[in-house]
Amino acid sequence: MTRYALVTGAGQGIGFGIAKRLTEDGFHVYVTDYNQELAGAAAEKLGGTPLVLDVSNPQSVRDAAALVPELSVLVNSAGIYPWSPLVDISVEEFDRVFAVNVRGNLLCMQAFHPHLAADGKGAIVNITSMSALAPAIGVGSYAASKAAAAMLIQQAAVEFAPDGIRVNGVAPGSVQTEGTNRAIKEGEAPQEAPFIPLGRLAGPADMASVVSFLASDDAGYVTGQNIVVDGGFLNNTFALYRHVTQPA
Ligand SMILES: NC(=O)c1ccc[n+]([C@@H]2O[C@H](COP(=O)([O-])OP(=O)(O)OC[C@H]3O[C@@H](n4cnc5c(N)ncnc54)[C@H](O)[C@@H]3O)[C@@H](O)[C@H]2O)c1
Repeated sequence: MTRYALVTGAGQGIGFGIAKRLTEDGFHVYVTDYNQELAGAAAEKLGGTPLVLDVSNPQSVRDAAALVPELSVLVNSAGIYPWSPLVDISVEEFDRVFAVNVRGNLLCMQAFHPHLAADGKGAIVNITSMSALAPAIGVGSYAASKAAAAMLIQQAAVEFAPDGIRVNGVAPGSVQTEGTNRAIKEGEAPQEAPFIPLGRLAGPADMASVVSFLASDDAGYVTGQNIVVDGGFLNNTFALYRHVTQPA
């Protein structure tokens, strides 16, 4: 019997990696993105169904939900991380980051709740960030939005458990994607690689394998967790301290 999964922001980057892995796991995947071209090209590569879904637009989310007859797994990966130091962030920019990174997760969880409840063992996995746990220079609104997204996971896990829906998160460290490549080029992203104990930046597949587990029956007793997948970076503050105090 075919089981269906839907991934937001799946046109590229981590979302695409997750859509690819869930396809390999046997799901038919709704490959969604607010960028129609990206969604179409990604779906064609994977043999999935493309859908235009702008997570920041309530009508767009409702329209997409109406086109999906059944769903077992929802992955909220769409997210933005503009350079936004708190000292001069505008109200519009702050609201935009929260509209995508926090409210977008809520709208999708609400819209697909009936589908996931009907499945009987539905699973939601939301992509947060290690920035949910520690501030990062220059992305003030982003870190705050991801911390809110992380608490939304815990809240939804409690509220949706009676409906048989598990809700978990993956908190990536530094992942090489189209988005981070752009940020590095524009001088917005720090170079964390030397401080990652596992010695390398992650790829989307490193996140996708954990999503795959959380979406599977093997994680049938796991809910409300936000698993940090950062190669040990957050745990390595002493190395950073030594680098700052004893530069080579
Ligand atoms: N790459 C990293 O190092 C990293 C680290 C921590 C967390 N994350 C999180 O992982 C997720 C994916 O990041 P990425 O690096 O792959 O990003 P990316 O920019 O490479 O890809 C993001 C995708 O989301 C889509 N998107 C943007 N706004 C959207 C909207 N309103 N509705 C629907 N789709 C939208 C884009 O079109 C794009 O296809 C984000 O939530 C991000 O915050 C990434």
